Amino acid sequence: MNICSIITVMEVEGMSKQVRLKNGAVVPRIGLGTWMIGDEPAKENQEIDAILTGIRAGMRLIDTAEMYGEGRSELLVGKALKRYFKEGSRDEVFVVSKVLPWNAGKKDMRNSCVKSLERLGLDYLDMYLYHWIGNVPMVEVVDGLNALQDEGLIRSWGVSNFDIKDMERLLKIPGAERCQVNQVLYHLGSRGIEYDLIDYMTAHDIVLMSYCPLAQGGRLSKGLRENQVVCDIAKARGITPTQVLLGWNIRNGSTIAIPKSSSSDHIKENGAAVNIELTKAELEALDREYPPPTTKLPLDTE
Ligand SMILES: NC(=O)c1ccc[n+]([C@@H]2O[C@H](COP(=O)([O-])OP(=O)(O)OC[C@H]3O[C@@H](n4cnc5c(N)ncnc54)[C@H](OP(=O)(O)O)[C@@H]3O)[C@@H](O)[C@H]2O)c1
Repeated sequence: MNICSIITVMEVEGMSKQVRLKNGAVVPRIGLGTWMIGDEPAKENQEIDAILTGIRAGMRLIDTAEMYGEGRSELLVGKALKRYFKEGSRDEVFVVSKVLPWNAGKKDMRNSCVKSLERLGLDYLDMYLYHWIGNVPMVEVVDGLNALQDEGLIRSWGVSNFDIKDMERLLKIPGAERCQVNQVLYHLGSRGIEYDLIDYMTAHDIVLMSYCPLAQGGRLSKGLRENQVVCDIAKARGITPTQVLLGWNIRNGSTIAIPKSSSSDHIKENGAAVNIELTKAELEALDREYPPPTTKLPLDTE
């Protein structure tokens, strides 16, 4: 297992906190998740401010999906982007959205993509992900994604919730070499993908985009932030337990983490974690608390 292999990090000055995809796109190692953002009208201004805070702090990758709030998340992201474009330009942000499995047939996928673009107020997506595997033949999904890219509606594409067998099946399909990322659940308390998936992806130049990097905060965090070792590391460094979790998540230099927050303060805290480099001793202490897998585990999706 060689989780520390670094394949795609820009090592040039000023860009070491970013990841370069195999198509050349350069994206930040910590972006912005948006699941459950846009659901409560009373929180709209706060959530727009939070997204703007993130973009201004360099977290210029925004992850959304047609599924989130049945389009409400994309609408809210669109409002935030409209405000951002008064001060910044389209090419400064990297917008990711996802197509639902039942919309992934060639014609439906185009409709879904166009609707996502309308909600976001954009004329192209930087990346479009196949949200999870459904019943549409994989060949058709790949063809549909490539057609959207050729048309210019998306700049790149990837997959989500693909385990190693799914990746193997995908990469046998002509045209699937254009796949840039696999977005899967990954946090300190859920390390199953370290057994084989990360290495497989690394070998094929597919970047890991890890979702639920904070194990969804309060609800499903499995006590990660209260863990004594996590807290001790945080205290000794003068950082927060959340930042320890994010620093751990992106420790191999080639992972993109997309924590979600509706709070500007939390987003500033999360963004600052890009500078954290945990020591060997700290990583070993965390391994003792949350050991890496020694056997193949089913892909976690919570
Ligand atoms: N591809 C997929 O199937 C899939 C599945 C799930 C998620 N995702 C993507 O991944 C993103 C992240 O996953 P997630 O939203 O499920 O979970 P997450 O990022 O692990 O956790 C989000 C939770 O952590 C809290 N939080 C964030 N920053 C914090 C901080 N600094 N201090 C304390 N609490 C903090 C948030 O509350 P506040 O808002 O109050 O800060 C929220 O309750 C999603 O938003 C979505 O974009 C993709």
